[in-house]
Amino acid sequence: MSNIGSYTDRLKDFDWSLAEKELGYRAGEPINIGWYCSDRICQMGLADKKALIWEDFHGASKTYTFDDLRVLSNTIAASLQELGLKPGERICLFMDRVPELYIGFLGILKMGGIAQPLFSAFGEDSLLTRLDNAKTAAIFTQRKHVAKVRKILAQLPEMRHIIVVDPDGPPLREREVGFRLDQAKRVEQFTVHPTTAETPSVLHYTSGTTGQPKGAQHVHYSLISQYLTAKWVLDLQPNDLYWCNADPGWVTGTSYGIIGPWSNGITQVVLDSGFNTERWYSLIQKHRVTVWYSAPTAIRLLMREGTVVARRFDLSSLRHLCSVGEPLNAEAVLWSREAYGLQFHDSYWQTETGSIVITNVPEMPIKPGSMGKPFPGIEATIVDPKTFEPIDQPARVGLIALRPGWPAMFRTYWNNRATYESKFKNGWYISGDRASLDSDGYFWFVGRDDDVINTGGHLVGPFEIESALLEHPAVAESAAVGKPDHVNMEVVKAFVALKPGFEPNGDLELEIMNFIRKKLSPLAMPQEIEFVKSLPKTRSGKIMRRVLRAQEWGEPIGDISTLEDD
Ligand code: WT7
Repeated sequence: MSNIGSYTDRLKDFDWSLAEKELGYRAGEPINIGWYCSDRICQMGLADKKALIWEDFHGASKTYTFDDLRVLSNTIAASLQELGLKPGERICLFMDRVPELYIGFLGILKMGGIAQPLFSAFGEDSLLTRLDNAKTAAIFTQRKHVAKVRKILAQLPEMRHIIVVDPDGPPLREREVGFRLDQAKRVEQFTVHPTTAETPSVLHYTSGTTGQPKGAQHVHYSLISQYLTAKWVLDLQPNDLYWCNADPGWVTGTSYGIIGPWSNGITQVVLDSGFNTERWYSLIQKHRVTVWYSAPTAIRLLMREGTVVARRFDLSSLRHLCSVGEPLNAEAVLWSREAYGLQFHDSYWQTETGSIVITNVPEMPIKPGSMGKPFPGIEATIVDPKTFEPIDQPARVGLIALRPGWPAMFRTYWNNRATYESKFKNGWYISGDRASLDSDGYFWFVGRDDDVINTGGHLVGPFEIESALLEHPAVAESAAVGKPDHVNMEVVKAFVALKPGFEPNGDLELEIMNFIRKKLSPLAMPQEIEFVKSLPKTRSGKIMRRVLRAQEWGEPIGDISTLEDD
């Protein structure tokens, strides 16, 4: 029996107060995610239960109980206070998937700080943009990443402390402080900052079409949705061994890689390494993983290896599979039935939504290729892109729109109220994704309504890539678009017009690719650069990425009446 039971029964009289009751939360009282994920689980008698089983690629392993989470997050919270950090200040986590990242997240929240997780593969420009925007006061990092922080430190006057979690080695520099979790004093008692429902908790940066990335601001009350969706969609049950593939640099890795499982008192395994078929299967086999939250790109990579490899491992412990981040194609669902005897359950949401909003819950018949139906308490529809009125006709494509007000919804974009407000039309939050609804109420994803590139489930903003390209001495103008890719769905392709005196050639192409990889990240690095004489522009001089994108996808170009006529 699944936790949710009957979807239709749950829809009747659904109220989020159900989750409040289960969590023992009463309106107006303090609510702190760090406390709920550790102290409360200990109070429920689960102090000695394993919370985190951590492994690196080579198999080095560490295990932490819920009591360890409680005490060590106290230790981190107390250390941050000793450094003079104050509630409400932004504290960044810039680390690989090491235990300090997970426990540090709880520690920051416990002392009332705002956790700002950033993907550790980010290069110095990606990092600078986000730290500068948030006026971040401190950053947790590792030796291997500290050089990137040092390079931009002069441009970050607000950054007071760089906390290095593996400090052995050459002496640390200005503003740097070493912190070793395994040697730090275990702080048994800590007074958790009395954050309340609307106190800011997590700041996740996400990319849009225009301008630099924006910080989606979440609050402690998000716990209500994250707890219940983890329980009903991921179906987490007391004896489960849960594995989420996502890195906490992205929202899946915090909402469902930290908050969802731990607020439910569930043991999770973390693998500090990227994709590798055999390593992944052996992890499932060794720890007897039962619930697995993955992503379509990973599933497509596993499909490529075939069922033969899957059969070489004992994967019989698996009982429930979910997916997020990109369209889950019907073939992937059908393949997972064949390979694991289970189907992947698609789930749809965004950094802004904070928790799963449209999904296939366990008891719901899956229509392969569909994202499923709204989670109870979520009112979702398809609206006309011009009038923002719901489209009543089944199969007509429009924009996914959500009625604001569920607990985990973002509260603003950091320092950018105007853009936040522009997301609401006619009483709906407009997701920026196109989809249709069928007559059974299932949602079918079509594509994004903007120029953001979704590569392997990671959003990359074209503006950020284009700005970085312009910093290269040879580049006069540029446009970045997604081009189709079998595994990653899309990869970045850049169109570049060179400055006079520069000739297009393979060396220059490689040099520019590497330039972007270093400045931004491997995800943002163009897989292809096409050198062009000029770029298609509107009469007002705006580059029309739409035309280039259509060319890559072999789609009709659409209305180009505003195109510059030369
Ligand atoms: C965008 C949000 C949701 C957490 C991870 C990404 C795309 C997400 C699906 C899905 C098709 C999906 C959308 C969305 N997306 N889930 N199940 N099917 N597309 O969070 O980085 O904010 O990305 O990812 O385009 O808007 P994010």
